[in-house]
Amino acid sequence: MDKLSITGGFPLHGEVRVSGAKNAALPILCAAILTPEPLVLKNVPKLNDVHTMRSLLAQMGVRSEAEDDALTLSAADIDWPLAPYEMVKTMRASILALGPLLARCGEARVSLPGGCAIGLRPVDQHIKGLQAMGAEIDLDHGYIEAKAKRLSGAHFVFDMVTVTGTENLMMAATLASGRTVLDNAAREPEVVDLADCLNAMGAVISGAGTDRIVIEGVSRLSGATHAIMPDRIETGTFLVAAAATGGDVALTGTRPDTLDAVLDKLAEAGVAATIDGSTIRIKRNGRLKSVSMRTAPYPGFPTDMQAQLMALMTVADDAAMITETIFENRMMHVQELKRLGAAIEVEGNTAIVRGAQKLTAANVMATDLRASAGLVIAGLIAEGETVIDRIYHLDRGYERIEDKLSALGARICRVS
Ligand code: UD1
Repeated sequence: MDKLSITGGFPLHGEVRVSGAKNAALPILCAAILTPEPLVLKNVPKLNDVHTMRSLLAQMGVRSEAEDDALTLSAADIDWPLAPYEMVKTMRASILALGPLLARCGEARVSLPGGCAIGLRPVDQHIKGLQAMGAEIDLDHGYIEAKAKRLSGAHFVFDMVTVTGTENLMMAATLASGRTVLDNAAREPEVVDLADCLNAMGAVISGAGTDRIVIEGVSRLSGATHAIMPDRIETGTFLVAAAATGGDVALTGTRPDTLDAVLDKLAEAGVAATIDGSTIRIKRNGRLKSVSMRTAPYPGFPTDMQAQLMALMTVADDAAMITETIFENRMMHVQELKRLGAAIEVEGNTAIVRGAQKLTAANVMATDLRASAGLVIAGLIAEGETVIDRIYHLDRGYERIEDKLSALGARICRVS
């Protein structure tokens, strides 16, 4: 199993290009199910999760061909509207196939995801929403069995803000008869990117990016070409890494407008960024101030950036309070950060991070995707050689992270 070896203490300098967004790519790959015509995607990140999604779609009969960062998906026929447990358990986002399969084929059998490292993560909202659109749904031997000759438009209010829930129902509603209104919808930029792609395919969606999305159902969608938006979490991770090491880094190909909460927190911490079109430059030369933060749905501070900010706060000047409000078990990086010398106490869903600690290298274990990113940042700060085990989590969501960091002067390498 691969590990990452990082020798910390070197400021990052230089320029790096951000890849396409994992969380936009995964739902958009599933959108290919909705049309018999080819869907051409550009700026597709080369990630294990994208590979897993392609394998899942291939099992259903969706062909895909990659060339550089472009991917052409063709769902001329869906032979098998099934997402098996073996796939769903490795990648929860497989649930995104449910809505499109049901809308296109009139039936779907998708494994229930079960628990995962960061919490229970139920999919009740996906199921209730499809039922509101007239689907008959049974739970059978751990599978969601859904049937509907044709879904019908409905008004559905989400009990809580769910990103993939919003995406699943939005995709299903594109081919329903009549109008669907989704209230308390997720406002994440990835939802907007998916809506843009669906509209390019002939869907009629308005309001994406607000908490009310309206979808006028159509009888057929066509092929289209769409470029996946830049990854705001990868961007944020590199911004924090640059701030943590006292570096000077320019990130190109970004969407600064999707990063307000992260840029604001960094500015509060004393690290100002300058924006020039799609380039964000970040430079730290002064001391790092402690800042408190609560995660929240977009446009709040993203839960997917919580571990990275916590790593940064271990070396800030005072104490910071970090509260996780989205997932109930997303503090597993705390134990690992403590192995590197961090001083952190956890009370319920809040971590109190005492700053001004000297981090020193240790062997640590990655527990989930974004926790791993926090450990990489801590490793870049810590004195000596930190070895991070189980980095397959990182490979799910970061494209060539060690190459990109090396290009910025980090002493980092992958060891098999
Ligand atoms: C997506 C992102 C993930 C990010 C998360 C929150 C993708 C592929 N993944 O995950 O990176 O961390 O949004 O920004 O886009 N919930 C329910 N019932 C449901 C659905 C959700 O109770 O039917 C709860 C979840 O347990 C969680 C909260 O709602 O507590 C938010 O989850 P959700 O937004 O659905 O996360 P994902 O879409 O799985």
